[in-house]
Amino acid sequence: EISQVSDHFGRQLRDLRISVIDKCNFRCTYCMPKEIFGDDHMFLPESELLSFDEITRVAEQFAKLGVEKIRITGGEPLLRKNLDKLIARLNNIHGIRDIALTTNGVFLPRKAQKLKESGLQRVNISLDAIEDNVFKETNGRGVVTLPVIKGIEAAQKAGLKVKINMVVKKGMNDSQILPMARYFKGKDIILRYIEFMDVGNHNGWDMNNVISKKQIIDRIKEEMAIVPAEENYYGEVATRYKYADGDGEIGVISSVTDSFCSSCTRIRLSADGKLYTCLFASDGYDLRKDLRSEISDQVLANNLKAIWGRRADRYSDDRAALKNTNRKKIEMSYIGG
Ligand code: GTP
Ligand code: 5AD
Ligand code: SF4
Ligand code: SF4
Repeated sequence: EISQVSDHFGRQLRDLRISVIDKCNFRCTYCMPKEIFGDDHMFLPESELLSFDEITRVAEQFAKLGVEKIRITGGEPLLRKNLDKLIARLNNIHGIRDIALTTNGVFLPRKAQKLKESGLQRVNISLDAIEDNVFKETNGRGVVTLPVIKGIEAAQKAGLKVKINMVVKKGMNDSQILPMARYFKGKDIILRYIEFMDVGNHNGWDMNNVISKKQIIDRIKEEMAIVPAEENYYGEVATRYKYADGDGEIGVISSVTDSFCSSCTRIRLSADGKLYTCLFASDGYDLRKDLRSEISDQVLANNLKAIWGRRADRYSDDRAALKNTNRKKIEMSYIGG
């Protein structure tokens, strides 16, 4: 009894991205700049977080509406206690065929094995530089690369498939484009370069700081031969390129210079139960209110269906037109990218 729902532009619902916590142990300059997210910053208290029961219930209803893929995000999702228990429950839902996690990797040496045993299949690990002096700046906490490298190795050892996410920002880490490619080539890890985006309200985004997909590819080609590859699945956000020598692949996520809204099948749930139909939305639907009142699964599912049905977001496609409106947006650390 799985039905399909289409939004205003005919896009079907396929992926649910669940943020499980808004806290993070890093302060990446482009995501949670420490000047804004300081010691006195108010994060969500535990009572406001959706419980595992609540998250599972939502995911079950979404699976009935065609969601096949779940991604767990944060903040840093591994800061949520007993996350493996949640993954095991999500893994049991009929229709869910892929569960993944986006993390900064630091806690993976402790947790990778258990996560894998709970049904997690893959992890996307953020790493913005391979040289310590650069990475210490980007993560805002002076952390060197070794703990992340250890996390990557632990994930591989546990049998999880690994991708690396590198946000590229001019002047911050563009020096690392080639060193990162060299490091991960031939290691059975897909490195993905991400154009610096204007998410949230505090990261000081400026088009002048964006290194475009084309510039990234040109830089790689100076040293290594790559050829375009077909997408792995409908609506994949990264454009893939294979190394001509067979040593694996890289990807580029070009939300700024070559947006991909027309195939966007993603809905996002925040840690406190707000539902967002776009990464750049300003308002979410208060699903927690529904969950904490006595509504039936049927009514819940109908609400979810209606929300997707009226979805007309395509922020990245419209970015040029919207650029001077100064609209308030949700924070990346709150909605998990
Ligand atoms: P795979 O399932 O491995 O393909 O993962 P993914 O690329 O969908 O997920 P991940 O969390 O690794 O996403 C990497 C980055 O891509 C995010 O941090 C965002 O910067 C960007 N991204 C993902 N989804 C969207 C989206 O819907 N819109 C925009 N603008 N950017 C997105
Ligand atoms: N631009 C692009 N990607 C971002 N992320 C966070 N902030 C930004 C931004 N401003 C991505 C990180 C990580 C995920 C959690 O969100 O790369 O992969
Ligand atoms: Fe934390 Fe990831 Fe944001 Fe960095 S990008 S501050 S690791 S949530
Ligand atoms: Fe989807 Fe919004 Fe990202 Fe476009 S900007 S791809 S609609 S989340």
